[in-house]
Amino acid sequence: MIGVHGRVARIAGFYRPGALLESESGARMLVVGRRKALHPHFMEALRLARDGEPVPAEHEVVSVSRALIVSEQVPEPGERVREVEWRAERPGVYGPEGEVNLLKHEGIPHVTIIASTGMGKTTLVKMLLRQAASAGFRHIIVLDMHDEYGDVVRELGGEAAPPVLPLCDLTDHELLAATGLLRVATSPIRMMRYLRYFVRAFCRLAEKTEIENLRAALERAGDAMLLLDVISPDAKALDERETLTREFIRALRDELGPTAFNALREVVRKDEERMAATMMYLMWAVEHAPRVELHWELPDIVAIQLLEFRSIFAMSDIALAVMSYIFRRLMELKEPALVVIEEAPRLLQDETARRNLELFLSQARKFGVTAVLVSQTPHDLVQNTRLVLGRVQNVAWARKLAELAPQMPGELARLLPQLGRGEFAHLDGQRVVPLRVIV
Ligand SMILES: Nc1ncnc2c1ncn2[C@@H]1O[C@H](COP(=O)(O)OP(=O)(O)OP(=O)(O)O)[C@@H](O)[C@H]1O
Ligand SMILES: [Mg+2]
Repeated sequence: MIGVHGRVARIAGFYRPGALLESESGARMLVVGRRKALHPHFMEALRLARDGEPVPAEHEVVSVSRALIVSEQVPEPGERVREVEWRAERPGVYGPEGEVNLLKHEGIPHVTIIASTGMGKTTLVKMLLRQAASAGFRHIIVLDMHDEYGDVVRELGGEAAPPVLPLCDLTDHELLAATGLLRVATSPIRMMRYLRYFVRAFCRLAEKTEIENLRAALERAGDAMLLLDVISPDAKALDERETLTREFIRALRDELGPTAFNALREVVRKDEERMAATMMYLMWAVEHAPRVELHWELPDIVAIQLLEFRSIFAMSDIALAVMSYIFRRLMELKEPALVVIEEAPRLLQDETARRNLELFLSQARKFGVTAVLVSQTPHDLVQNTRLVLGRVQNVAWARKLAELAPQMPGELARLLPQLGRGEFAHLDGQRVVPLRVIV
């Protein structure tokens, strides 16, 4: 089978690249291009035909198309072929042999979808989401850059939601990412420690005390952190505002123990500026996160709306932290999950996000997590994924991508710019399998 797939057949007649042909014996082929030169006898045959003279057999006009054999069957030389419709009883993703589930794969689970704008990537992904839901994926998470997936996730019983910053569930690393300290601080270790102490104490306080306005409470606790050396945890409260301040300090002491607490007070006195900066960054994150929660359990099906974060920066720190959190949780849960990352190259522009994503992709499979990366351009993460290529207008990109095809890269490079909307080629191991998305 492997030897057959990808072999090129020469077919008499001109066909549209991307067309699916079937021979009399049932072999199926995908037209990948025409032979460039005209048949040498073309002009002579044309002249004879015009003059009403019989055209000798050797002058018969046979224009030739090239087609990639995509069935297990090989056409016999001399067989007639005809263009066939894709067999599709209902909307879905189809290969030459019928409906295809791209997410079921023995080898590489991850999929990269690349096609020019408007060529049907998002439409294909929506089909995949439906497939994933019926294939029993426990979690389906879409990082939705354009707010396009709300309808389909709701149809599947999920929700579209802005990113949530789950303060008490974040690791040190995720806290640093959320605050932006990972990016701005040259040696964030001490700041990380302040952050961690603060968050641990605050979460401890929140467990004991009902907090109504989380952001306001965080601000006040942040102020208390800066006054650590002057507020006594045992002092009497003056008013309600004071209560939270003092209780936060108490929670901090309980959390750290008296010795470490006193040591921290000493340090803060000498390190006022760094502590103030740490709190400022944290408050900035709290203020800018669309939603701050103490805890947030990963929903089963969700489209995370990242649209608002695209404005100035490639990716906001909060979005990055939320992504890190999601990736980590999925690996901890070890349940079959699908993560869709739209505009993957945008993530790769950020060094932290790139490292996260690379690590995630290399590990995800072990934990039952499948990633689908979507983009308009080729990018560096394609190695660990199966490629699903739609129309790629840029000829240089088409060539670069086709080089990854196991066979017939030249043909594929010519085919890619000619594919239509909803037409894709799946590079599946040794095979090139044409796909059609029928809506
Ligand atoms: N297989 C298909 N058959 C018919 N129409 C389709 C098909 N796929 C997509 N379309 C239509 O083409 C338009 C663009 O599709 P889609 O949004 O999926 O493209 P895209 O590749 O995600 O574009 P972008 O790069 O802008 O995100 C939509 O109006 C969609 O309905
Ligand atoms: Mg799209």
